[in-house]
Amino acid sequence: MIGVDFWQGRYDASNTPWDLGGPSPHFVELLKQLPAFLKPGNMAVFGAGRGHDAALFAQHGFDVLGLDYAPGAVQGASQLYGSVARFEQANIFDLVDPASPKAGTFDYLLEHTCFCAILPQERSAYVQAAGNLLKPGGYLIGVFWEHSDADGPPFSTTETEIHRAFEPIFDVVDIQAKSPAADRSGTERLVILRRKA
Ligand SMILES: C[S@@+](CC[C@H](N)C(=O)[O-])C[C@H]1O[C@@H](n2cnc3c(N)ncnc32)[C@H](O)[C@@H]1O
Repeated sequence: MIGVDFWQGRYDASNTPWDLGGPSPHFVELLKQLPAFLKPGNMAVFGAGRGHDAALFAQHGFDVLGLDYAPGAVQGASQLYGSVARFEQANIFDLVDPASPKAGTFDYLLEHTCFCAILPQERSAYVQAAGNLLKPGGYLIGVFWEHSDADGPPFSTTETEIHRAFEPIFDVVDIQAKSPAADRSGTERLVILRRKA
């Protein structure tokens, strides 16, 4: 069963091959290009892990809150980057509730290998939680994986699935081509979505 104990077990065993030891090259490149929509604001990070991506955006002037339900992740992120960003233990599926104090408070939501970490049947709840946290017009910036394995994690996501899963609540701004230069194995693509008003 993939749940908090599974992920905590991976942190306990230091079996975290997804952890690049630094931010995703996709995000580094995006911040270099600095598209017009990307201005410092409030940012949440789903499945923040040890916080490398959260710290990158915090160091570029964003007010960043990293969320992860594995205590080992939150502890690691706080130790590494607690001076530049905040990290909280939270299950993203508890953030579907419109009465959550975090609802509608974020300009950006960042994600790197969290959508592919949850079970495919949990994706619609993920989309609900993302839509609930963002302000209308806010952006979800994520790195999504597409590969040929039937199993996961990481669970594969096609471009068609991104449209189908997110379009009830989000407009698709950009789905970049998979770029071997920017990732581990040519399986990753940067995706930018805008929460509908
Ligand atoms: C593959 S790791 C990626 C971590 C980090 N983004 C990185 O790239 O290093 C997936 C992370 O999502 C977290 N996660 C999975 N399901 C979650 C949920 N329902 N709520 C909060 N965090 C979750 C796990 O604890 C894990 O830290």
